[in-house]
Amino acid sequence: MPGMMDNEYAVRTELFGRHTNGAYVQFIKRMGFEINVKSAQGAVVVDVDGKKYIDCIAGYGNCVLGHNNPAVSNAVIEELRSLRPYNLPFIHDVQAQLARTLAEMAPGELECCFFVNSGAEAVETALKLARLSTGKPGVICMRGAWHGFTFGCMSVSEPSMWKNFAPLLDHVTHVPYSDVAVVEAAIDERVGCVIVEPIQAENGAIVPAPGYLKSLEGVCKRRGILLLFDEVKTGIAKTGKLFACQYDNVVPDILIIGKALGGGVMPIGGVVAKRGVWSKFGLSFPMSSSSGAGNAPACAAALATLRTVEAENLCEQAYKKGNLLRAGLRDLMTDFPKIILNVSGAGLLLGLHVTSMKCASNIVARCAGEGVLVMNAFCDRTKILIEPPAVIANEEIGEVVRVLTRAVAACDGP
Ligand SMILES: Cc1ncc(COP(=O)(O)O)c(C=O)c1O
Repeated sequence: MPGMMDNEYAVRTELFGRHTNGAYVQFIKRMGFEINVKSAQGAVVVDVDGKKYIDCIAGYGNCVLGHNNPAVSNAVIEELRSLRPYNLPFIHDVQAQLARTLAEMAPGELECCFFVNSGAEAVETALKLARLSTGKPGVICMRGAWHGFTFGCMSVSEPSMWKNFAPLLDHVTHVPYSDVAVVEAAIDERVGCVIVEPIQAENGAIVPAPGYLKSLEGVCKRRGILLLFDEVKTGIAKTGKLFACQYDNVVPDILIIGKALGGGVMPIGGVVAKRGVWSKFGLSFPMSSSSGAGNAPACAAALATLRTVEAENLCEQAYKKGNLLRAGLRDLMTDFPKIILNVSGAGLLLGLHVTSMKCASNIVARCAGEGVLVMNAFCDRTKILIEPPAVIANEEIGEVVRVLTRAVAACDGP
């Protein structure tokens, strides 16, 4: 009964708004995302009235394997049914297996892993590890970056996003993205590391200039500082490689992962580092993170995720489907040059650059009304992020492009 469900939805959002986050309820309304969801499978979310939505937000990148991936869900259920204790202080087989699998799958000599509960915690862990390893407090980071909501993460993120929370960490230098010379110029005796996203996701899927990551690697090696890649968003097959840095054959000292690692089912983040960086890790008790970190069901989800990525060739799928989607978006750019200024990104992490924030938000809301979920990028709301799961069907990509085309055509312009 739609009436009853509407009422149930109203009660739910009223309770959530009153006790949790009223501003979020208003935001969802404004964006056209007031959807009373009932189920989700693959790239599709279904509401209580049976209306389908192709989900190109996909849990902000958590659901690269699609919603309710059976391999991941079953691995978690199996772990729970085992009745083994899955918290600390025990060492779990799934955690050991996950660490070994990541060490095998990660590029280069990345072989030491540590698991936490989220992408933000993983970034914190990497920053602490860099400080521990180098003994230096200074961090160079990028304008336009987004690394998460903790104080440490915000400190190294785009400054306009955290101005209400200052003061944050000391010794942090923000430099323009995709410019190696400014990084080199900012290195002094206090700097221990550079943190960078291989593609700036929340700035609108911005890809740096060719050779940038390789040059950064060279500068860091030459100046004796660590290179940290935040692949929380770009990792786990999303861009067409297991990790985006593999496009450039660059191996960081510390790789930071999260989001899709949990298969869209469990929260988990982690770092994978070179052994040299790890040497002081065990000597420092404050490196160990939190009581729930690395719990067995989360590790089981991550292990199943990595195995599914391999078994279902999800990197290749993301690459090919990304090309198909990108071709459609580029047609949009050709057909509406005054509204769509550019298309950026790689694989299934794509950014549509719109002439104004108002226009971008209108497109987002219209798409939601027509059954396609996309979202403004967090740091630059003139850009629309389109990041469907790698299991999206080609016909669904066609539908995404058709709906976007109608939404852009209906956009009033700047
Ligand atoms: C590149 C990047 N790093 C870190 C994070 C933080 O991850 P989480 O929100 O899962 O803590 C995000 C979240 O959007 C991100 O995009």
